[in-house]
Amino acid sequence: MSVPIVRTVAELRAVVAGWRRSDASVAVVPTMGALHDGHLSLVRAALQKAERVIVTLFVNPKQFNSAADLAAYPRTENQDAAKLAPLGAQLLYVPDAEEMYPPGFATTVSVSGVREGLCGAFRPGHFDGVATVVAKLFLQTGADFAFFGEKDFQQLQLVRRVVQDLDIPITVVPCPTVREADGLALSSRNARLSPAERAIAPNLALVLIETAERLARGSPVLPTLAEARAAILAAGFRDIEYLELRGETDLQPMTSLDRPARLLAASWLGETRLIDNVRTSPIGSTN
Ligand code: PAF
Repeated sequence: MSVPIVRTVAELRAVVAGWRRSDASVAVVPTMGALHDGHLSLVRAALQKAERVIVTLFVNPKQFNSAADLAAYPRTENQDAAKLAPLGAQLLYVPDAEEMYPPGFATTVSVSGVREGLCGAFRPGHFDGVATVVAKLFLQTGADFAFFGEKDFQQLQLVRRVVQDLDIPITVVPCPTVREADGLALSSRNARLSPAERAIAPNLALVLIETAERLARGSPVLPTLAEARAAILAAGFRDIEYLELRGETDLQPMTSLDRPARLLAASWLGETRLIDNVRTSPIGSTN
């Protein structure tokens, strides 16, 4: 069975209103399409939690800081709809840019603090674009639950902040990063890797996992992070944008592992930018 598609806020609201008349709970899975198993795992988790699931598919121009990157982003609506059909999601919402940002649109949701550093330092305006579109998608769908992957960890924390600060009545549900058998985190960008780069790519995750274990056992943070950077470059990555240890809930930089944390990295492999993160906490802590 194919998934019904709506393209306007009015159609979306009419469908959701019908569901609400029978008291159905509603979840939303926001995506930019080019769906892979990571997205599908979010949809499956949403279907476990709510009676009705909306998948949104919108390549959001406001979160791209390069016109070339926006133009190159894959648009695969038919394939995406075919991947979703067997899962049982009830609705696909595919607005176009005019529907999302009609002429005269002038509001930006901007989250200070969380958007700074990490990816925010290298992608100016990106997180304002994400915060703005996510707030709109939450208000347009009126969903009870929103599902996000932990792979984009800074995005997840930003979305939580938006929901809390704007009193949006939605529960953000984080889902673990889905990985290939060799450790590489699933990403639509992986398709851009050459066979040689694909062979190198899992090293980012492998170094992060090993480094997280060393930190948990008490290895000193700064020298251990320096060794991790060297290992990523030695594996064949071209450049490291950041490799940092940050507090799991506040994303504050940490120089000693005294509470649960995330080790986060962004690194260039040829012309492809890959990001990943893993959790770590001091061994013996109850968290
Ligand atoms: O993670 C993404 O694909 C996008 O940033 C999101 C959350 C769908 C907003 O456009």
